[in-house]
Amino acid sequence: MDAIRIHGGVPLNGEIEISGAKNAALPLMAACLLSEEPLVLSNVPALADIKTMGRLLEQHGASIETTEDGHTVTLYARKISSTEAPYDLVRKMRASVLVLGPLVAREGRARVSLPGGCAIGTRPVDLHLKALESLGAEIELTGGYVEARLPSGQKRLMGSHFTFPMVTVGGTENLLMAACLADGETVIENAAREPEITDLATCLIAMGAKISGLGSGTLTVQGVDRLHAASHSVVPDRIETGTYALAAAITRGTLKLTNTRADILDSVLDAMRQTGADVMIEDDSITVSAASGLKGVDVMTEPYPGFPTDMQAQWMALMTTADGAAMVTETIFENRFMHVPELGRFGADVNVHGASAIVRGKANLSGAPVMATDLRASVSLVLTGLASKGKTIVNRVYHLDRGYERLEEKLAACGARIERIQGV
Ligand code: EPZ
Repeated sequence: MDAIRIHGGVPLNGEIEISGAKNAALPLMAACLLSEEPLVLSNVPALADIKTMGRLLEQHGASIETTEDGHTVTLYARKISSTEAPYDLVRKMRASVLVLGPLVAREGRARVSLPGGCAIGTRPVDLHLKALESLGAEIELTGGYVEARLPSGQKRLMGSHFTFPMVTVGGTENLLMAACLADGETVIENAAREPEITDLATCLIAMGAKISGLGSGTLTVQGVDRLHAASHSVVPDRIETGTYALAAAITRGTLKLTNTRADILDSVLDAMRQTGADVMIEDDSITVSAASGLKGVDVMTEPYPGFPTDMQAQWMALMTTADGAAMVTETIFENRFMHVPELGRFGADVNVHGASAIVRGKANLSGAPVMATDLRASVSLVLTGLASKGKTIVNRVYHLDRGYERLEEKLAACGARIERIQGV
């Protein structure tokens, strides 16, 4: 298994080009199942999860063509050859459950393995299923699989008025995609407002869907008979952007992040400004710089536009280097503090009390061998390694490969002493 070796303590300086968002690209890819015509996605990040989704879609009968750099993907689901998403693929990536809505909408049936729990929480899919049931799908759970089908004699899903009892990104995406091919109007209340949902809705509209309320908590969909070919460029990755913004701050350097958008990262940039870091916004770039004496700032994770749970671990890493204490509260996932004991290995002082962690900053951090059990926790350890004196080895790099394109290359180009070591 590969690892990453870092010799920390060097301020980063330079420019990093931000990739397209993984969490937008995955549902966009699943959307190809809604149409018999091709969907061309550009600004796709070249990541392991994108390949996994590609394999799943091929297994449903889609053909996938990817340019050499991996950034433009043509998906063509002319015919659906299988409506089953097998356990072996779904267990690798929870986002596989996003094929459920499109398959049942187009084919009238789907059999998708239940994803099961994961490192950051139990992550049930009950709300995805309730949402599809509201459109008339009959759902059964058997042998670890969700089986969804239309009632006999019925050709299409039926529009509905569905209120999510809590905000769910994937649940909103599944319902939104399915509703596009349902009969009549669907109103989705308490919809997730994440930029990745708006990106999906924008692409669906380009495919011929009729959706209004983009960016709000209420999405209204008028079902259409069919969707057609479209091209769409994936929204920039706000979490990658935020992660590198924090890399500049934690190393007390300056990074210009290009090909991105500040308006989808307000909560993180606001919190950064409160620490005393300098944030400069231009057309499609953000420049972050920080000197010594950053202040501790409390954050609480919330659905968009609140502070993202996917930035919580990285924020905690930054706070270990700030003056004073900061409280970091996680409200989305019940088990998303696995990085805390690993941060302790660098000498950080973090205490967890229920859903909150108190970080007492300005620890004298020193590099250490560490490992993490999920993507954002892993990258928080990379950030801490960059800020720590001496050598850090981050194990289980495959987590990072799922969500950060060419991470070590992008950081090394800005002066980080970071390299991948193979087969440790
Ligand atoms: C998406 O996951 C992201 N993944 C996650 O990013 C992100 O952390 C999360 O949204 C929250 O922003 C993708 O977009 C592929 P949810 P998702 O449904 O859709 C509960 C990363 O590191 N819930 O909004 O699975 C759930 O357990 C990843 O890139 C139910 O109870 O998240 C959680 O507590 C990790 N029942 C909360 O809702 C359901 O049916 C929010 O989950 C669905 C969700």
